[in-house]
Amino acid sequence: MSFPAQRPRRLRTSPAMRRLTAETSLEARHLILPAFVREGLSEPNPITSMPGVVQHTRDTLKAAAAEAAELGLGGIMLFGIPEQRDAVGSAGMDPQGVLNQAISDVRAEVGDDLIVMSDVCLDEFTDHGHCGVLDDAGRVDNDATLEIYAEMAVQQAAAGAHVLGPSGMMDGQVAVIRQALDAAGWTDTVVLAYAAKYASAFYGPFREAVDSQLKGDRRTYQMDAANRREAVREVELDLAEGADMVMVKPAMSYLDILSDVAALSDVPVSAYQISGEYAMIEAAAANGWIDRRAAITESVLGIRRAGADTVLTYAATELAGWLTEGK
Ligand code: PBG
Repeated sequence: MSFPAQRPRRLRTSPAMRRLTAETSLEARHLILPAFVREGLSEPNPITSMPGVVQHTRDTLKAAAAEAAELGLGGIMLFGIPEQRDAVGSAGMDPQGVLNQAISDVRAEVGDDLIVMSDVCLDEFTDHGHCGVLDDAGRVDNDATLEIYAEMAVQQAAAGAHVLGPSGMMDGQVAVIRQALDAAGWTDTVVLAYAAKYASAFYGPFREAVDSQLKGDRRTYQMDAANRREAVREVELDLAEGADMVMVKPAMSYLDILSDVAALSDVPVSAYQISGEYAMIEAAAANGWIDRRAAITESVLGIRRAGADTVLTYAATELAGWLTEGK
């Protein structure tokens, strides 16, 4: 018999050897916590399909942000659920609207210790649940929506958001938001473009989280799961329009896309481990079928390995706690 000349196992012999040779790192600063705040709530409201995740009150949101800052997270991404919805999503433009209030609450709490991000999109604010306004035929009207995004973006910047995340997949949204911000003097406000966002079955639990009114689907604006080249085009367009960071969403079923985007992007790349991806891990763990902590850690590490500089995950705070424990 002949002995193997190459023995990759040598580099796996002990935890210290594996630590020395690990190619990918996972740190609290890589993690962004998505968080929901609901108008008029007096107690946090659990989201059934996302165990451990709640609709926050204004106060519990501040506490969650303070904890995230304490643990050294990279950021917090805010979503608002208004009491009143209408056809054009007026509550999203209102400086006193739930999301804009939450942004200023959180900024007052964390200052510049944690990056405060906010969702620029209409689906939480419209009574029909679409990410844009509708034309007379009931189709999502791209350019009419852009005008509203521009106004929302300026209000969110004024409320104190460091980073704006346009997630509606309207054509030209990054350019319009950048122009509006610059014209209003918000030249330092960062745009994190949801550049390659797919129409996904895994958004299910999020729709519960924001009490979505959507009937039908988002297939005329979010991307088709069959497409890979198209993601490159979307990202290149957003970069040309002035995106400071780009995102791929969802993450776990789209790691090839993430890898493509990481290879071409000259700005930081983010990926969103979405509600359904989180829910799958939780459900399997609750049944005792997988080890929850190990599965969460591995899934986020895998997203980093595929090319994400930062990862949005509902497990961000808990994961950051585990990472600091290990230090
Ligand atoms: C749109 C938006 C959605 C998510 C983030 N931003 C919903 C959608 O596109 O239907 C989903 C996030 C998740 O599923 O965790 N404002």
